Amino acid sequence: MKVSVIGTGYVGLVTATCLAYLGHDVACLDIDEKKIEGLKQGQIPIYEPNLDQLLEDTKKTNKFPIFTTDPKIAMEHGEIIFIAVGTPPKENGEPDLRYIEACAKTIGKHAKQDCIVINKSTVPVGSGNWVYMLIEQANPKLNFHVASNPEFLREGSAIFDTFYADRIVIGADENFARAKLKELYKPLIEQSFTPPNYCPRPHGQAHIPFISTDITSAEMIKYSANSFLAMKISFANQIANICDLVGADVTEVMQGIGTDSRIGGKFLNAGIGWGGSCFGKDVQALIKIAEEYDYNPELLYGTTNVNYKQRNLVIKRLQDQMKILKGKKIGLLGLAFKPNTDDLRDAPALDIAKALIKLGASVSVTDPIAAENCKKQNPDLEVNYVNDPYELAQGKDALILVTEWDEYRKLDLEKVFRFMGGSKILLDGRNIYSPVDAKKIGFNYISIGR
Ligand code: UDX
Repeated sequence: MKVSVIGTGYVGLVTATCLAYLGHDVACLDIDEKKIEGLKQGQIPIYEPNLDQLLEDTKKTNKFPIFTTDPKIAMEHGEIIFIAVGTPPKENGEPDLRYIEACAKTIGKHAKQDCIVINKSTVPVGSGNWVYMLIEQANPKLNFHVASNPEFLREGSAIFDTFYADRIVIGADENFARAKLKELYKPLIEQSFTPPNYCPRPHGQAHIPFISTDITSAEMIKYSANSFLAMKISFANQIANICDLVGADVTEVMQGIGTDSRIGGKFLNAGIGWGGSCFGKDVQALIKIAEEYDYNPELLYGTTNVNYKQRNLVIKRLQDQMKILKGKKIGLLGLAFKPNTDDLRDAPALDIAKALIKLGASVSVTDPIAAENCKKQNPDLEVNYVNDPYELAQGKDALILVTEWDEYRKLDLEKVFRFMGGSKILLDGRNIYSPVDAKKIGFNYISIGR
C-alpha cells in the first residue's frame, strides 16, 4: 500500500522504516532539510539499535522510502497518511499541538481523495474530531477519513515492539478506514513477514491481536496504558520506601506480587523512577483532560508526585551519609533516561546533577551513548564529562548508578572501589548490584528499598 508519514522523529521514522520493510511504498515528509538529506543517504538521526540496518534492508526489496521536504510529493503519494509529529508539553502540561495543526493544513492542501489520515502522535482525547475539522476547513472538497492508531513502542527496542507488538489498536468510526488499516498491518497481524536476523520472531508468536475501537477510546487507550505503566513503577517505588522503613527487600516483594498473573512482573523495578518523553507528558496530559471536566484525578497526581520525589531521595540519602555535600566529589553513572537510548528528555540524571551542583558538590558524569547529546543540549550544565566508569570512579566520594546500561551491570566493582576515595559510597539507583557483594568489597552501599 502507499503510505505517507509526516514527521521523521522517533515514532515517524520507526513506523516508516518498519512499514517499508513489510513491503509498503512509503514516503516520509519532514521540514528539516538536513535530516532528510541524511536519511536519503541512510543516516539515522536518532540512536535506535538496528534501525540503520532495517532501513538499509528495505533496499533489497526496492522499498527504500522516499524522503522529502516537499509536501506535494509526500501527500500525493499516500492513500494512508500518518501524522507522527511531536506534541511536546507546554509549560502548563498541555501538549503543544501546533505541529499537528500544520499537518492538517498540509494534508488539506495536497492529499488525494479518499485518503485515510491516521493520528500516530500522542494527542489529547478528541483530537480525531479536531484534525477532521482542520482538514475540512483547509479543503472542503477533499473526501477523507480520520483514524487513530496509538503506538506503544519503547525507545531502544522500537523495532521489536513494532514487529511483535502486544496488540495493534485502531480507532475508527467507519468500516472503510478500519478495513484499510487491517490490510496495512496484515503482515504483522498474521506474522507472515520474514523477520530480519537481528530481530528474530519470539518463539510461539503466531499473530498480533487487532483491537478495533471508536476514535476516542483509541486515544484514551494510549494515555491509559502509559499512565498505568507509570503508576505501576510509582507503586513499586512507594512500596520500596516503605520497605526501607520496615527493613524488607523490595525486589523480593515485587517478585512475590508480580508472579500473581493479575498483577504481572513487568514494570515493577523500584529505583529513582521513570523519565523519558512519554510517561511524564502523558500522565500530565491525562490530568489536564480530567481537569477540563472538573474531575480530580488523584491517582494520577500521586503517580507523578511519587516519581519526582524519588529523584530527591537520592540527594537525601547522600546527605544522610555525608552530611555536607559541599566540596564532595560525586560521579553519575549514566545520563540517558534509560539504557539503549541517547534520549535525555525528563532524564533523572539531569535533575540529580543540578541538585548536587546547587548543594556545592563537584559532579562528574559518564554515559556510553548520551554524553554528546547532553553536552549539546545542556551547555550550561557544570559537570565534568569523563569517558568511562573507571575514570569516573577516580577519587570520588560517591558514585550514583542512574542508568542501568549493560556495561555498568558488568563493572569490575573491586576496581571501581580501589579507584574511589573518601566515603566510597555506591548509591545504586536501579537496584542492579548485589548488596551482599557490594558490602563485601567494602562499599558504603545504598540501594532503594532493599
Ligand atoms: C514508554 C512506553 O513503555 C511505550 O509503550 C510508549 O509508547 C512510550 O513510552 P519509553 O519511554 O521508551 O516507552 O521507555 P520505557 O521502557 O517504558 O521506560 C520508561 C521509564 O521507566 C524509564 O525511565 C525506565 O528506566 C523506567 N522504568 C521502567 C522503571 O523505573 N522501572 C521499571 O520497572 C520499568
